[in-house]
Amino acid sequence: MERRTLGTNGLQVSAQGLGCMGMSDFYGPLDDAESMATLARALEQGVTFFDTAEMYGPYKNEELLGRFIAGKRDKVEVATKFGIVRDPANPQRRMFDGKPENVRRSIEGSLKRLGTDYVDLYYLHRVDPATPIEDTVGAMAQLVKEGKVRHLGLSEAGPETLARAVKVHPIAALQTEYSLWTRDPEDGVLAACRQHGTGFVAYSPLGRGFLTGQIKRFEDLAQDDYRRFSPRFQGENFQKNLDLVARIESIAKEKGVTPGQLALAWVKAQGEDIVTIPGTKRRKYLDENLGAEAVTLTADDLKRIDAAAPKGAAEGLRYPAAVMGAIAK
Ligand SMILES: NC(=O)c1ccc[n+]([C@@H]2O[C@H](COP(=O)([O-])OP(=O)(O)OC[C@H]3O[C@@H](n4cnc5c(N)ncnc54)[C@H](OP(=O)(O)O)[C@@H]3O)[C@@H](O)[C@H]2O)c1
Repeated sequence: MERRTLGTNGLQVSAQGLGCMGMSDFYGPLDDAESMATLARALEQGVTFFDTAEMYGPYKNEELLGRFIAGKRDKVEVATKFGIVRDPANPQRRMFDGKPENVRRSIEGSLKRLGTDYVDLYYLHRVDPATPIEDTVGAMAQLVKEGKVRHLGLSEAGPETLARAVKVHPIAALQTEYSLWTRDPEDGVLAACRQHGTGFVAYSPLGRGFLTGQIKRFEDLAQDDYRRFSPRFQGENFQKNLDLVARIESIAKEKGVTPGQLALAWVKAQGEDIVTIPGTKRRKYLDENLGAEAVTLTADDLKRIDAAAPKGAAEGLRYPAAVMGAIAK
């Protein structure tokens, strides 16, 4: 497995990480035993970069990952996030909290659940509009001084926020959705990362599973599946987006790979500073996704893929309109 470096302070991680969110939340039925087996297989195959967050579960995903990394701490890089506060009694309700008190409270809980005394990469999950980013990052920087955190990250922050944050402390990674149906980071975020020596972590690189071509009908999603609330999965958008997947599928077929592998290879090909974190709770999908690491895309392939899935090709917003407002500038 290729290693890539995030940020100028050199956080080395596997070029493909593993998104653990779906093991505890959001995407249908859970199976802890298969999730644990998937984590183990990932590590065996050279995946060392594991992505979780306080709010996944909430808390359960950090606990699951904590069980897995017990006794293996020096072999893995653990990334977690704070700043989206969910009420376990009413998990649909969310608030953003980037206050210094919450930074300190959150890290203690995460370390405990993960069963470790440090995290490799600590992200602010969403920028809190009520707290200046300098205050949040200042409190996060204090955790680096205390040795509880090795590197800092931001999630869904825009160029202006990143520019302010790096004045307080280097930001090793910015994590944002990036895939063949979400090319928003090309509008300034990727350039800002390069300007500030910040690595880029692409989340939902499989378009929350849609780009694999395996999701054929809205009705097949479990009643509580988060994707039912995503505009891209609803009504006519779903059908139109299937056309986009069909175009990706046809190029994948010619290359002798799966559409998911093509989608992952495309993200990886967008820069040496980009790391993908596809999410799965199944060994079968993990194996397929790792196969993407061997896929080479020529300049001609990239041109054709770009024509098949140009910027803005997906129908519907990537989050409901009310949630899109939470993306920071
Ligand atoms: N910073 C943020 O705000 C944010 C937001 C979302 C996600 N994330 C992080 O990014 C990670 C990845 O994103 P994601 O999980 O949302 O989306 P994703 O990686 O684009 O897709 C995950 C979905 O695709 C399915 N899948 C994976 N590999 C497949 C394959 N080879 N064939 C068919 N289906 C496949 C998974 O199914 P199964 O679940 O059944 O395995 C899951 O439902 C998350 O786990 C999380 O750690 C961060």
